[in-house]
Amino acid sequence: MKIAVCEGDGIGREVIPVAKKVLMHFLPDADYSDIFLGYEKWEKEGCACTEDDISAMKGSDAILFGAVTTPPDPDYKSILLKIRHELDLYANLRPVRGGSFDIMVVRENTEGLYSGIEELGDERSTTLRVVTRKGSERIARKACELSADRGFRKPLVIGNKANVLKSDILFRDTCIKTADACGVLYKTMFIDALTLDVLMHPERYDVIVTTNMFGDILSDACGYLTGGLGMLPSANIGEKYAFFEPVHGSAPDIAGKGIANPVAAIRSAAMMLEHFGMKREAEIIEECILRSIISGVCTPDLGGSAGTGEFGDRIFECILKRES
Ligand code: IPM
Ligand code: MG
Repeated sequence: MKIAVCEGDGIGREVIPVAKKVLMHFLPDADYSDIFLGYEKWEKEGCACTEDDISAMKGSDAILFGAVTTPPDPDYKSILLKIRHELDLYANLRPVRGGSFDIMVVRENTEGLYSGIEELGDERSTTLRVVTRKGSERIARKACELSADRGFRKPLVIGNKANVLKSDILFRDTCIKTADACGVLYKTMFIDALTLDVLMHPERYDVIVTTNMFGDILSDACGYLTGGLGMLPSANIGEKYAFFEPVHGSAPDIAGKGIANPVAAIRSAAMMLEHFGMKREAEIIEECILRSIISGVCTPDLGGSAGTGEFGDRIFECILKRES
């Protein structure tokens, strides 16, 4: 099994080594390779992510990714968006868990407002919001599968803004048809009201499917429920490739201080294990994360005073104990 690891920039370099250690513990025989990309590479080589980097990712069974800083260049295109497009990682799965709730935000990851069809002008700028039947159908199918895997706990919620956006009429109606065809109970909700309701009553939700930008915003907002962005992992899944990354970015404001919360990265590694069918191992990791937080050994964003390494070590020690 081949696993590519890419730390990227900023706190990516601090949290990914912690997550990689956990991954290597559970998958000691995998073939690990490092990919260097991001801001520093852009400064040195004028390109933040080369075709070789993309090929290296395509040659792997899974990729663990940190975060990248966006260089100050108006023509610069986000590496993450490039990777999501080139690897056709159409489903961005963003779990949000807490004591009384367990939500899965299923974000369409290749179209919508992230179509890349846009123009920057002085007086008028445009970005084309592209929604296709095919794109909506495949993300809806993925959401239906997840809903089934999770035991149809609550109706599938289709987050949309079809009262204003024509593109969302196609999205909503395609999701409805797909849910009907899969025999999945669903509910449609406008994304603005949905976002507020998720924050007020998270226990009412299970799987939520929505378009690219709405899913981006909703998933960050959900960080409020879990103690911040340092807690949220994600999986970017396509037909062929699987890419795992924390929801947070490179956080230049705290980079280098050794205080970044490694949980989002460790949980992303756990999502990779689950992707390989290692559900029990992912559960052990989750349990150890919670134990470490409860014991008070955690980073300042969670109210503790531990550094990234100390927090990571505590989680790792717990994993070793749980296993012996
Ligand atoms: C995310 C990020 C990215 C996005 C950015 C960095 C391109 O916010 O993964 O949520 O908008 O998708
Ligand atoms: Mg985001």
